[in-house]
Amino acid sequence: MKVEDKPIGFFDSGVGGISVLKEAVKVLPNENFIYFGDSANAPYGVKTVNEVKKLTFNAAEFLIKKNVKAIVIACNTATSAAITDLRDKYEDSMPVIGIEPALKPAVELKRKGKIIIMATPMTLSEVKFKNLMDNYADVSDIMPLPCPGLVELIESGNTDGDEVREYLNRMVKPYEEEGIAAIVLGCTHYPFIKESMRKVLDSRTPIIDGSIGTARQLERQLTEHKIKNNSDSKGSVEIFNSLDDEGIMKLSYHLFEY
Ligand code: DGL
Repeated sequence: MKVEDKPIGFFDSGVGGISVLKEAVKVLPNENFIYFGDSANAPYGVKTVNEVKKLTFNAAEFLIKKNVKAIVIACNTATSAAITDLRDKYEDSMPVIGIEPALKPAVELKRKGKIIIMATPMTLSEVKFKNLMDNYADVSDIMPLPCPGLVELIESGNTDGDEVREYLNRMVKPYEEEGIAAIVLGCTHYPFIKESMRKVLDSRTPIIDGSIGTARQLERQLTEHKIKNNSDSKGSVEIFNSLDDEGIMKLSYHLFEY
């Protein structure tokens, strides 16, 4: 098989990375995609860095066995814990793309108030995030907001129910009094609760996620490596999950179509 025709591998701790996969399919409709969700081990955000590294390497090996030509770590937590080590190991043979909270577009809006970055506790405590924040700390009022428990709600298919709304009311709503400039979704699960956020919070507040930026970065990398698929027919999407459960597969395809 020519390298261009090989699939692109996507990985997340669970169903969240499907939000990035969807953007990638829009940007690169003729590519074939393989998605691996590690729901059996989700959430990653409250594990140790070493545990997340190990799980991320296992996932990368799964994708490599599927003969992928590039790997997208569609998980902010796994990116912050493991991207450097992953690149050391695999980047000679294929591009490895990660995701980080899309802080730059939020800063560029120049709105008054706090920029709230919702993410897992691990993403916000890693040095990668501290470096990102340092770039903008002088020009913006940035507030990292760890959201333990939110990934679990979304993994259970709860994207617009009372529990999610109660969570947002408790964790985010109180900051509206001080003024929210924008909300950055620094976890790939969270775009699936955007509708709930619009209902609970002031619907004019910009909500920004990194999926489009990551999809474009993937396209750039494929072009640079001259491995973009030249086919003019629509590509395929295959979804795998470490959890041997029909429900998680149904949820995955539902979120993909959603
Ligand atoms: N989607 C993952 C992220 O972007 C969630 C990590 C977790 O499982 O806690 O960080």
